[in-house]
Amino acid sequence: MTTFTYSSNFPETFVFGVAAASAQIEGAAFADGKGESVWDHFARIPGKVVGGDNLDVACDHYNRFDEDFALMASLGVKHYRLSIAWPRIYPKGDDQLNQAGLDFYHRLFASMAKHGITPWVTMFHWDLPQALEEKGGWTSRATADAFRIYADTIVKAFSSVVKNWITLNEIRCFTVLGYGTGTKAPGRKESDAVVNQTYHVALLCHGHGVAAVRTHGGPGARVGLTDNCDVAVPVTETPADIAAAKAWFSDKNAHILGAIHGKGYSEYYLQREGANAPSWEAGDFDLISQPTDFLGLNIYTATYIRAASGEAFPRGYEALKLPANYPRADSVWLNMIPQAIYWAPRMCQELYEHKSIYITENGCGYDVEPVENGEVIDLHRRDYVRNHLREVHRAISDGVPIDGYFLWSFIDNYEWEDGYARRFGIVHCDFKTQVRTPKLSARYYSRVMQERKIL
Ligand code: NOJ
Repeated sequence: MTTFTYSSNFPETFVFGVAAASAQIEGAAFADGKGESVWDHFARIPGKVVGGDNLDVACDHYNRFDEDFALMASLGVKHYRLSIAWPRIYPKGDDQLNQAGLDFYHRLFASMAKHGITPWVTMFHWDLPQALEEKGGWTSRATADAFRIYADTIVKAFSSVVKNWITLNEIRCFTVLGYGTGTKAPGRKESDAVVNQTYHVALLCHGHGVAAVRTHGGPGARVGLTDNCDVAVPVTETPADIAAAKAWFSDKNAHILGAIHGKGYSEYYLQREGANAPSWEAGDFDLISQPTDFLGLNIYTATYIRAASGEAFPRGYEALKLPANYPRADSVWLNMIPQAIYWAPRMCQELYEHKSIYITENGCGYDVEPVENGEVIDLHRRDYVRNHLREVHRAISDGVPIDGYFLWSFIDNYEWEDGYARRFGIVHCDFKTQVRTPKLSARYYSRVMQERKIL
């Protein structure tokens, strides 16, 4: 009889969790003094969001968090990544503090503690106060000044209950997609020069967030950025393709990962952007590149890279176009490339010497996931999670310091410009009745978390 010896056990200290974000699940968009966010505003412009969906109710988590945490606990979830809504705390961004906003999160953290769930808190997950947008938003350094006050306030307020802080979520999404392509709030279509400046302002906010945790976080507080880096996967795992992929990765991520890990923008980046390069002030990079405790990576997809030479490939790499019917989820950008979750952390370790990496998001979205006989048979999501966990496991076995994995998302929610049509949850949400139904993937992941191995 054959004996199988492959062990897919995860280290004892490995963190398994689930993730979501304030704007996408809370609802109560104008309750208890909350100000309007750029997404509240954008969603009301006809044609911007599928189905004209807005964030007013979402999963009504604002009123149902206690039952949601009970459900999480029943599935064995011990770690939950959430975000705080800036416009609940400062409705206009930088004016009067709204105590009712702080009180809400005090109640929420108390409920998490009651259910034995550890919070991982993102300070900013895209819900910029609309009032700040009206003063220039991410193009203006005034937004970074306002963020400093906001970050100081929330870290001080929650330092006894929150020890894991993430400054910003996915800088490129709220900058280039918000100000370049205009597909996300606030929906502006600006020049490359303006977009590059928004990156810089976001990096300043990251720096203020790190400083807030160092100053007010209390004992044991840790902080990092969550980035959705452009991921390179070598076409073959040969030294030549791996080197090419690494060079592409370094070039593509110079303006964010390079900047937070170094002391400025790389020569290559500045040359590439030329007159469009961002401007900065003395001291900016001391703030931006303060050491962090971990790096968060949101991994969904990748680009295949191979070694190439000749005039057309001056940097020694070639990015391949995927064939038209390459497997993907319903989100057009979400191609099924599980090796992404191996290579991105490995390159971050090799290029930036990161000692601790968390996968702060990984998941997939589909439009048709009906509840039938009380069940949602989302085998496609089960496969996605399993295939990605195998690559996480491979990375850890190869010595890449991945310390945790957060599945996006705990529950179906507001998928930004795709509205409620696109479902990413392991728990189904009926947006009319607010009934929650754990999908097959939730049962699967629950067992994985419990047994700490791939099943
Ligand atoms: C990344 C974002 O952080 C999250 O808000 C979004 O819902 C997922 N990707 C899926 O698109």
